[in-house]
Amino acid sequence: MKVLFKHIKQLVGIDVGRAFVAGAQMNELNTIENAFILVEDEIIIDYGKMEECMHQESDEIVDCRGSIVVPAWCDSHTHLVYAGNRESEFVDRIKGATYEEIAAKGGGILNSARKLQQTSFDELYEQSRKRLEGIMRMGTGAVEIKSGYGLTTEAELKMLRVIKKLKENYPIQIKATFLGAHAMPTEFKKNKQGYTSLLIDEMLPAIADENLADFIDVFCEEGYFSVQEMEQILEAGAKYGLVPKVHVNQFNALGGIAAAVKHNARSVDHLEVLTVQDIKALTGSNTMPVALPGCSFFLGIPYTPARTLINANLPVALATDYNPGSAPSGNMNFVLSTACIKLNMSPTEAINAATLNGAYAMNLEDSLGSIKKGKLANLIITQNVPSLGYLPYSFGEDNVKHVYLKGQKIV
Ligand code: NIG
Ligand code: FE
Repeated sequence: MKVLFKHIKQLVGIDVGRAFVAGAQMNELNTIENAFILVEDEIIIDYGKMEECMHQESDEIVDCRGSIVVPAWCDSHTHLVYAGNRESEFVDRIKGATYEEIAAKGGGILNSARKLQQTSFDELYEQSRKRLEGIMRMGTGAVEIKSGYGLTTEAELKMLRVIKKLKENYPIQIKATFLGAHAMPTEFKKNKQGYTSLLIDEMLPAIADENLADFIDVFCEEGYFSVQEMEQILEAGAKYGLVPKVHVNQFNALGGIAAAVKHNARSVDHLEVLTVQDIKALTGSNTMPVALPGCSFFLGIPYTPARTLINANLPVALATDYNPGSAPSGNMNFVLSTACIKLNMSPTEAINAATLNGAYAMNLEDSLGSIKKGKLANLIITQNVPSLGYLPYSFGEDNVKHVYLKGQKIV
């Protein structure tokens, strides 16, 4: 089946032959005015200027007159498999409680874990697939989903099996991350090593046995997991081929970034707090810094200093952090706007951060994140967007006309 997208007003994100873009490169995007793309089944097989389009053989034609077309968003950090919501904690915060105070009283992640442990596989799948369908409609074509609201072997496996079933049933590209080290279950509060051992000796082998995860994550933070515990867990994960992608520097800089880089982390995520040593540790590494501005927006905590990272010639990726406690939205369009408004990123930098750099943060840069022959046909056809910067500028506006994932029309 061949589909020809014709008369595209501007085709954005033509591949530049790099795994990711960093520093000043982030402010460059290759585009073609009045363009076409030819897709065969899942794959982009040709693209170029409309006047050079020789293809007569397509089974279907999509007229893209007036539309800017961009690669679908690559959201490299979510927790979208969860049970229920935490709307009551949201109201508590409005009344003055902090996120950390709520967590210290057994709310927060432990609240979500209790809910998830009591939810059946089928019900959890049902709640999660609605969120997945929602982000696909908003233009997300690749997503990483973490476990970490189970915190028992059984419940962590339940989450990862839900992710696996989502992977089997939807055209969106999904990567799974094991985040057993998300919080310390109450029964292990006085026996932290006991939980780390459970994670390493029981959960990891069971997960590896069913091949349920691509990455391993740890919430490295005061009151959660120390740098030393993180290193122990990452080393154990590496034995099963799990690559680190970690939560670091959300509230405190503990040295987790340097440790993660040492363990060849694919990404370090959050970074609302960032030191000169952290920048040094990232320089020359293959680790992608990931900013999650939706979390800062929702919690009222500082925004990741993306300008500092880019000015230090580093890359930045943008992701939603979609989760019930700190970012209950999977809308990448809003994340782009927030990145421009609050992180001072240019629209071009934000689009690179949400496409190619996001794909890199999931180890998907060979198949996604730019317009290239042989890459997957994941496309957003916009509407009412006169120029590229209008996308993040018009925050809250629905500029997505059609979404194609692996060549299939989603909306
Ligand atoms: O990325 N920081 C750790 N984990 C999530 C939030 C988890 C929650 O509050 O449920 C995050 O912000
Ligand atoms: Fe997160």
